[in-house]
Amino acid sequence: MRIAIIGTGNVGGAIARGLTGKGHDLVLGARDPGKVGALAAETGAQVAPPAEAAKRADIVILALPWGAAEAAVRDLGDLAGQTVVDCMNPIGRTAAGMGLTHGHTTSGGEIVQGWLPGALVVKTLNQVGAEIMADTVHLPHPPVMFMAGNDAGAKRKVGLMLADLGFEALDAGDITKARLLEPFGMVWINQALMRGKGRNWAFAAVSA
Ligand SMILES: NC(=O)c1ccc[n+]([C@@H]2O[C@H](COP(=O)([O-])OP(=O)(O)OC[C@H]3O[C@@H](n4cnc5c(N)ncnc54)[C@H](OP(=O)(O)O)[C@@H]3O)[C@@H](O)[C@H]2O)c1
Repeated sequence: MRIAIIGTGNVGGAIARGLTGKGHDLVLGARDPGKVGALAAETGAQVAPPAEAAKRADIVILALPWGAAEAAVRDLGDLAGQTVVDCMNPIGRTAAGMGLTHGHTTSGGEIVQGWLPGALVVKTLNQVGAEIMADTVHLPHPPVMFMAGNDAGAKRKVGLMLADLGFEALDAGDITKARLLEPFGMVWINQALMRGKGRNWAFAAVSA
């Protein structure tokens, strides 16, 4: 598949590394191509301005800081009919400190779907740290990664990509289930950063 990665920081870079050698055409959508030369060389990815990278991609991955996302996503143009992966957690300042700025009545995933009404948005890859996205092979069990989105075909396509990253992909339902997946991502962040568990772990689904 042709996979465009918009935002090439911790997450975008990790996904590019994790998908290297899996038979995909990777395109890094970078506003400053000079910054991503090393990542492009390491992963064999092409580099293009974000809107150009997103055009004709089978999957467009949004890995942007939440505060910059709306303007950057709108600059991508019309992505109608394209599969868009939203791995962003809507984190910002709240009355209780840094945390999710949206939750019970909407979610980051639904807001992204609202910015891109014709696109097939799938919320996923927000539930573990970037390092795990780059390398699941060292874990003793495939980690689980939930997906929420309205289009079954888009989730099938994204599920294949998640399998290439070493995840067990599980369907959480329509895009409103991003309201479950974003707080779930915060569980990982809380354990990793506030409770001393570190970053080298992920959730697994274990069945009898
Ligand atoms: N870090 C994690 O472990 C993790 C895990 C799961 C989910 N997430 C979520 O993933 C998202 C990205 O996190 P991150 O840690 O990868 O952030 P990051 O390292 O700060 O990278 C953000 C990327 O977005 C780019 N960017 C910023 N504004 C842009 C714009 N207007 N147009 C185009 N590109 C722009 C930056 O480009 P420049 O280099 O040019 O500034 C950079 O490449 C966040 O929403 C976060 O909540 C993070």
